[in-house]
Amino acid sequence: MIKEILVYPHPILRQKSKDVESFDSELHTLLDDMNETMMYRGGVGLAAVQIGVLLNVLIINIPIDDETNLENRDGLQLKENLIEAINPIITHKDGTQVFNEGCLSIPGIYEEIARAQHIIVEYFDRFGNQKTLETEDFMAVAWQHEIEHLTGHVFIENLSFMKRKKFEKEWKRELKEKSKKASRL
Ligand code: CO
Repeated sequence: MIKEILVYPHPILRQKSKDVESFDSELHTLLDDMNETMMYRGGVGLAAVQIGVLLNVLIINIPIDDETNLENRDGLQLKENLIEAINPIITHKDGTQVFNEGCLSIPGIYEEIARAQHIIVEYFDRFGNQKTLETEDFMAVAWQHEIEHLTGHVFIENLSFMKRKKFEKEWKRELKEKSKKASRL
């Protein structure tokens, strides 16, 4: 089922998520709903907290570059590339990279954020099998972005003081515009 995505500065987005304890059908439904919601909204990653569920659950699906597919030059998200991560932790990080990030909870905003270039993560899949993944580049950005959500933080909190101030001002104005449009209905 497609769920509503909480929009910044929703107070739930500031809360810390808790570990999943049972790998049951409820968890599987949550993961399926998250994937449907992420695909519907055109995201590459989603944390459970973004649909209001305070559990350490995230999904990532990095699009592949497919030069032969003229319909979708932005890349394809294949079901077999979907990562479902339960109770993830980063056990190692090194290097630095700067990436222009966006977030389904702050739609339309893109900012350059510095993060580790290379990471190792440990997590469980939907059946409770333990996994280890070593990754870098954009995939490492996605993991760090989603894990940050689970700690009750969003990517714009990494901006410098001045850039953050500018963002907050612009965002307030945008939310006002959106509510004006909504009240016209
Ligand atoms: Co996000």
